[in-house]
Amino acid sequence: MPVLPPLVCLAPNRQHEAEAFAVQFALSLQDHLPSDGYALVLRETQLSLEHPHAHGAVMAEFVEGAAAHRRQFGGGKGQPVAKAIGIKGSYLPQVVDATAGLGRDAFVLATLGCEVTLIERSPVAAALLADGLARAAAHSDTADIVERMQLVHADAADWLLTLDSAQRPDVVYLDPMFPDTGKSAAAKKDMQAFQHCIGDDLDSERLLAAALQVAKKRVVVKRPRLGERIPGPPPNAELQGKSTRFDFYVPLASRPPR
Ligand SMILES: C[S@@+](CC[C@H](N)C(=O)[O-])C[C@H]1O[C@@H](n2cnc3c(N)ncnc32)[C@H](O)[C@@H]1O
Repeated sequence: MPVLPPLVCLAPNRQHEAEAFAVQFALSLQDHLPSDGYALVLRETQLSLEHPHAHGAVMAEFVEGAAAHRRQFGGGKGQPVAKAIGIKGSYLPQVVDATAGLGRDAFVLATLGCEVTLIERSPVAAALLADGLARAAAHSDTADIVERMQLVHADAADWLLTLDSAQRPDVVYLDPMFPDTGKSAAAKKDMQAFQHCIGDDLDSERLLAAALQVAKKRVVVKRPRLGERIPGPPPNAELQGKSTRFDFYVPLASRPPR
């Protein structure tokens, strides 16, 4: 069972923000770090998920590090995720990233010019995302990009079904949690923390069904190259990468009438 970490504020002048975070994401605000176990820690510079025995912290980072490198040298529209959602020439689909996580895929798509709505149900991931987006909004290299990213803290299967026809996105993108994602040490550290605090997404079939009802053009599911498909209807096509596979589904709205 996933364990919801407490929120601890270690920046005295940010106590009121910590209180607002606790209310917004239903987190319990504690005044000391736990001696064992994860905590969401609000420091002067960022919010991160930390463990006393783990090296490094997990956060949503759009300004520096891997995100900055990928923004500048990542291969633009040639990146597999860009091809997967159907970016072509000047065509930029409107995307709902229904499993936003730490927002890495969404940020790539927004960097390329797409409007992306990020849906995240976990209070832990949603709080980290809110902080990462706020920091990126305050930085001149990323402010215009994150203007195209809108975060919604909700269960995406429920949220998608509330959209009326004018609000339906071109593409719904899904990357549910499964064991052993990614090979890099950083990805492992993030996944370990997420496995502990969020757990596996065992209800992806329901999310896929909602996505198929709502997307106008395509539903894209990211999986490990040899990973199992989401249970439910089989994909209509797939794109294999080195470590990742994208499964494509034609949504109900764009299937030819029988
Ligand atoms: C593997 S992570 C996604 C990583 C993300 N693609 C990235 O680039 O950082 C999966 C995330 O999807 C979220 N999730 C799974 N099912 C969801 C649902 N039905 N609604 C909203 N969020 C969901 C989980 O809470 C988790 O944070």
